[in-house]
Amino acid sequence: MIDKIKELIAEADAFTTQSQEEVEAFRIKFLGKKGLLNTYFAEFRNVANDQKKEFGQAINQLKNTAQDKVNTLKEGLANSEEAVSSGDLSRPGDPVSIGARHPISIVKNQIIDIFSNIGFNVSEGPEIEDDWHNFTALNLPEYHPARDMQDTFFIQTNPDILLRTHTSSVQVRYMENNVPPIRTISPGRVYRNEAISSRSHCFFHQVEGLYIDKDVSFADLKQTLQYFTTEMFGKSKIRLRPSYFPFTEPSAEIDVYWGLETETDHKITKGTGWLEIGGCGMVDPNVLKNCNIDPEEYSGFAFGVGIDRIAMLLHQISDIRLLSENDVRFLEQFKSAL
Ligand code: PHE
Repeated sequence: MIDKIKELIAEADAFTTQSQEEVEAFRIKFLGKKGLLNTYFAEFRNVANDQKKEFGQAINQLKNTAQDKVNTLKEGLANSEEAVSSGDLSRPGDPVSIGARHPISIVKNQIIDIFSNIGFNVSEGPEIEDDWHNFTALNLPEYHPARDMQDTFFIQTNPDILLRTHTSSVQVRYMENNVPPIRTISPGRVYRNEAISSRSHCFFHQVEGLYIDKDVSFADLKQTLQYFTTEMFGKSKIRLRPSYFPFTEPSAEIDVYWGLETETDHKITKGTGWLEIGGCGMVDPNVLKNCNIDPEEYSGFAFGVGIDRIAMLLHQISDIRLLSENDVRFLEQFKSAL
């Protein structure tokens, strides 16, 4: 019988659980009214005298072991319950999934940083514009054929109201409300009625820049663009290809020399090494006049680059539609670019 008790002591000692019910079952089994201990205590009378001492010690030990076990297990469970309900600060936190900045925002912020280093501030304006700010003030009077270059979404009930086709509209607003020297960039979403494909979409994002002061020249424009491409892409070789915009004269397309080192270089530059990133030019005197700036006293340059296009280039995104679908599997890949 003593051996049996010793086995029970070992069993009680080894017992462990996380569940309150199991602690209670253990307590009833060992310490309950009809539990093992009471059975053995009752047995005590029948034990031979010479074994009484050893037997007595064994059941006392069993009692203490079982009682201690119940106490420590109960205490442990109570503590962990308290930790849950009282917000124990040392507990590990619940996992929080952290979002990523959208690639458009990443590139937009980079461009803002680059230009703020040379004194440009950021200006913003409405996406729903009027004809004056989007077209007329920019030297595109009604029936000007160049209006067709930008397939415009008009608000049906009012042909004077439209979704801006470029952020040049913000520059008009800025010139109307500020006096030179002006150095501002206007990032934002613009809309054009285009056939949707992997390379074009009905809305995209631009940053346009404007610098107006005394004696601003085309050389200043080129220098500024060269600074920008060096900072943005690490490429300092640019080419200004003659072009036409109603609001600038002379006008040019901005090409960056991307190189032809890798297969991707060949693909994105169509084998030429050159990549078009936007348009630019000297602000047309008519535009300055429309915005109450004297073209005899001031001159300036303007440029516009596509954010989506730059994001696609830098992050090797092959389809512009990925930028507006907001699929988290796509967006999550930009966590490290924060
Ligand atoms: N507004 C032009 C466009 O959206 C870009 C541009 C801006 C060109 C400034 C010249 C000067 O296409």
